[in-house]
Amino acid sequence: MLGFTETVLRDANQSLAATRMSKEDFIDILSEMDKVGYYSVECWGGATFDSCIRYLDEDPWERLRLIRKMMPNTKLQMLLRGQNLLGYNHYPTEIVRDFIECAIKNGIDIIRIFDALNDLDNIKDAVKATLEFGAHPSCALCYTVSPVHNVAEYVKIAQEMEALGAQSICIKDMSGCLMPDKAYELVRALKKVLSVPVILHTHNSSGIAQMTCLKAIEAGIDVIDTAISCFSGGTSQAPTETMALVAENCGKKVNLDMPTLAKINSHFKKVFDRLFEDKTINYHSLQTDTQSLISQIPGGMYSNLLSQLKAQGILDRIDEVVAEVPEVRKDLGYPPLVTPISQMVGTQAVANVIAGERYKIVLNEVKAYVLGKYGKAPGIIDFEIKEKIINNNTSSEKTVDSYLATKEKCIANGLNSEDMLIHVMFPQLAEKFFSKEKEVEEGVYKFACSESKDQDQQLPVADLRKVDDDILVLLLAIISSHINVDVNKINIKNVYECQ
Ligand code: CO
Repeated sequence: MLGFTETVLRDANQSLAATRMSKEDFIDILSEMDKVGYYSVECWGGATFDSCIRYLDEDPWERLRLIRKMMPNTKLQMLLRGQNLLGYNHYPTEIVRDFIECAIKNGIDIIRIFDALNDLDNIKDAVKATLEFGAHPSCALCYTVSPVHNVAEYVKIAQEMEALGAQSICIKDMSGCLMPDKAYELVRALKKVLSVPVILHTHNSSGIAQMTCLKAIEAGIDVIDTAISCFSGGTSQAPTETMALVAENCGKKVNLDMPTLAKINSHFKKVFDRLFEDKTINYHSLQTDTQSLISQIPGGMYSNLLSQLKAQGILDRIDEVVAEVPEVRKDLGYPPLVTPISQMVGTQAVANVIAGERYKIVLNEVKAYVLGKYGKAPGIIDFEIKEKIINNNTSSEKTVDSYLATKEKCIANGLNSEDMLIHVMFPQLAEKFFSKEKEVEEGVYKFACSESKDQDQQLPVADLRKVDDDILVLLLAIISSHINVDVNKINIKNVYECQ
């Protein structure tokens, strides 16, 4: 049987609508979704948590509980960036454990765990905690094309993931560059050695998702990620209904209720129309973008680079930046371009071009990466570059103690674990989010945990429009602090609309 993971609430929402669907957009259809027979529904994690507190004034935990309540029969799935959780920093194991415990307690069944570098050290704590609290850890292999990545290497990593306790393995093709024949080869190779189910997650950014899914089905994939048809295509996934019919036509057993899928699609069509009319969904994200196949720059990252340079009045330098991205990636040992690495590589490329000298300005995050703080690079980091990066720059690092101190403060203030985790992961946002919530309830509110402003120094304070997966979020605040760009002159709306 072929299983389906529906992505409309998370990845399709994130890829097409910058995660701006509010709970009112889907609450009425959840009970129908519960009847379809999905393998799972991806509904949380990735950017949903961030977007809920940053833009939607919605408690992300409340959203999860609501979905759980309305969908008692379907497995709920979330995406987790290993040791980075849903944020951009490397959190201590204790916080990782706290977070996973809360996610499971509030309704999550399957946690898809990935690390941008496929470094097992960054996912093992999350896998362990997921098992400990009784949920299904699924490990994702970040797929990329480079001289140091090959099928044998992916198979080896997948076997190690299974040995860690992963109960399924997902091929995560965030930039839509997994060619159909490669998918066939990779799925066959994984099926040969793994005893757990193999899942395919891909994006249609460059127009190959349906073909890649089909070849994976032929190779015996167990589950594919798809989006209900009106939220499919472009930077999102392949359409659920189409792939279900294609798979059935290929002789696979598919257990989806087609009339219910039609109801779900007509519901989300209205949501789509609203988001398209208010320009939340931009037609660019629906178009096929083949340049990502050629330059290896994910579609979202490319359009974001464009809008960044446009905002700074230097759009004419886009070719230099596009040429610089693969160079930076090579210097850094070919990391896959996925959050948070895609942001670092993209921002460093822009900095290299604007500064007129490579690595004259180095982001703290890039320095930390070179020092191994994010894990092991897949390839070799160029020695001279490494020297230059380490010697030229000083960085202020957040220590394990600072996270734990925030946790202690929150507990002392009587906060529950869910609210504590919002403060630990998004300190600045938390202050705003909770003061709004409390203003409504009590008139005035001041929270003691967030008094330290430098808590957020490493967290981008700029507009994180879309996070995770194949989306580049240029860290405007970081760039501007290095190269004296006036943030006020950057047209945020423009950044957003071009994604
Ligand atoms: Co994705």
